[in-house]
Amino acid sequence: MSSPMIVTIDGPAGVGKSTMAKKLADALGIAYLDTGAMFRSTAWRLGEGAWKWEAPRMVEELGWINFALSGSGSDTRLSLNGYMVGDEIRTEQVGMWASNVATMPPVRAFLKEAQIKLGAMYPLVAEGRDMGTVVFPNAERKFFLDASVDVRAKRRFDQLKEMGKPANLSELKAAIAKRDDQDRNRAVAPLRPADDAVIIDTSDLSKEHVFKALLDGIKG
Ligand code: C5P
Repeated sequence: MSSPMIVTIDGPAGVGKSTMAKKLADALGIAYLDTGAMFRSTAWRLGEGAWKWEAPRMVEELGWINFALSGSGSDTRLSLNGYMVGDEIRTEQVGMWASNVATMPPVRAFLKEAQIKLGAMYPLVAEGRDMGTVVFPNAERKFFLDASVDVRAKRRFDQLKEMGKPANLSELKAAIAKRDDQDRNRAVAPLRPADDAVIIDTSDLSKEHVFKALLDGIKG
């Protein structure tokens, strides 16, 4: 039996991966997998300071975590132990906790396995940092979205405001730059484009233009 189709979208924080993954999943009629949400909800569930745990304790705690996907397109829902993950994981603070646990080999191994299992069950638009390089190296199509840190901080700022959450632009910029640095320079599965990824710099592009570039890339 052939495995379900996988399209990957990787890139740094706030570049618009989730928005584009949802739109593309709608267009293709398949589910999207927000792997950042998997790291965020894992970090959130484990709690602050979990990145200081020794590997055996981390492995034991991860054993209690289970992910499931339901629905399709922009209505895809990710749940952790039956709980639908919501906006509580969308703060920059939880993003930093996620980036901290994401440096730990047991966490990466655990989530990689969970992502591969979901990808074996459903065709997916999978977005994250290492989808094209590590988790789905044989994906049908790979994209890497990039944008300057100023543009990304402004987008995250607008997103948080829209959700009614407190946001400070200069603090966000510093936090995103710090998280990027950690994500790009970690030893395991650092953020980088796959050799066969289509790279799209979205700094000066509208959402419509980015989406068109993705659709062209799928057709091409
Ligand atoms: O994409 P998002 O900002 O929600 O991701 C939160 C954090 O989770 C990232 O900063 C990164 O450290 C981690 N992550 C990762 N690999 C992925 C997705 C997210 O390391 N595939």
